[in-house]
Amino acid sequence: IVRNFSSSSAVQSAIKNVTVIGGGLMGSGIAQVSAQAGQNVTLVDVSSDVLAKAQKSIGANLGRVAKKVYKDKPQDGEKFVTEALARIKTSTDPVEASKTSDLVVEAIVENIGVKHKLFKQLDEAAPAHTIFASNTSSLSINEIASVVKRKDKFGGLHFFNPVPVMRLLEVVKGAETSEATYKSMMEWGKAVGKTCITCKDTPGFVVNRLLVPYVCEAIRLFERGDASARDIDIAMKLGAGYPMGPLELADYVGLDTNKFILDGWHKKYPDQQLFKPIPLLDKLVAEGKLGVKSGEGFYKYE
Ligand code: CAA
Ligand code: NAD
Repeated sequence: IVRNFSSSSAVQSAIKNVTVIGGGLMGSGIAQVSAQAGQNVTLVDVSSDVLAKAQKSIGANLGRVAKKVYKDKPQDGEKFVTEALARIKTSTDPVEASKTSDLVVEAIVENIGVKHKLFKQLDEAAPAHTIFASNTSSLSINEIASVVKRKDKFGGLHFFNPVPVMRLLEVVKGAETSEATYKSMMEWGKAVGKTCITCKDTPGFVVNRLLVPYVCEAIRLFERGDASARDIDIAMKLGAGYPMGPLELADYVGLDTNKFILDGWHKKYPDQQLFKPIPLLDKLVAEGKLGVKSGEGFYKYE
């Protein structure tokens, strides 16, 4: 398997200063790949504990990259890690952080009200040239952008988990995203080492529109008792070449996240069979079985 762990890229981007808001699973990965590519990063979260955890995991993940890219030159590897970490500042104040930013990538909780509140504040404070992007999995970019004045400078930058490993970036054009903004987002995506694809602002964009119904069908198959969880996963790994089976993937992404996406789409598109609620998924989430992060989902984790 060829994976792109390049520490810098030949592609140049006019964007040099990026603010990543949300220091969780996705935000920490986005901060990491940006810093690896030479960007000045400010990582923001409401919680300073989250920021401390993010810095620790970024350091560890940069170490994994260094081990691979600089396998015969450990000293260069150490320098790569130190320099990338030094490019990441942290803050608990998104408004202040946005003032020196060319691009804001939002990766906070998947809740339209919370995202609106954040972008409204940022719109007042950030320089006129600053581009705003959301990493939302399932919400509409146009709906998120509806609260800002700079609708021409708003788009989607949708990364995949784990961000340092997954090579794709979906660049989403909203109804009012300008060509210049779209071009800047594409250039920035390439500069941080990703292969970019373009999608309109449709539910789930490309990957989640295909992946979420597939995972949900696997849960329904298991719920009906047609096959065991292990056999469903083995089937898709060995029969279709997927790196993870669908139930392993559901546990990895988080069953709460899966449920949240499905419920949101079901509410919006009640006639779409593929988006109908799944009693087993609802039950597992209600029991706190959220997958890898809670120690149990379809499988148990240490
Ligand atoms: N940072 C840096 N490197 C990492 C890493 C990280 N966070 N996580 C793993 N790696 C590296 C490892 O060091 C390892 O390197 P080598 O190949 O050199 O040994 C390599 O990546 C593979 O890792 P592992 O050996 O630990 O595990 P694996 O081979 O089983 O791969 C996986 C793990 C990459 C996660 C793989 O199973 C996979 O691709 N799974 C599918 C993931 C997927 O579908 N993601 C999309 C989810 S949907 C989404 O994100 C969208 C949404 O909106 C919900
Ligand atoms: P997460 O829960 O790991 O992290 C979210 C972080 O945002 C938390 O640390 C929280 O403290 C912080 N936060 C919440 N409100 C905030 C605010 N107002 N200001 C600053 N920080 C705030 O979530 P995640 O999995 O990283 O997901 C983040 C976003 O990325 C969501 O929109 C999600 O849909 C999307 N996404 C998730 C995945 C995935 O596989 N988990 C993949 C692609 C996209």
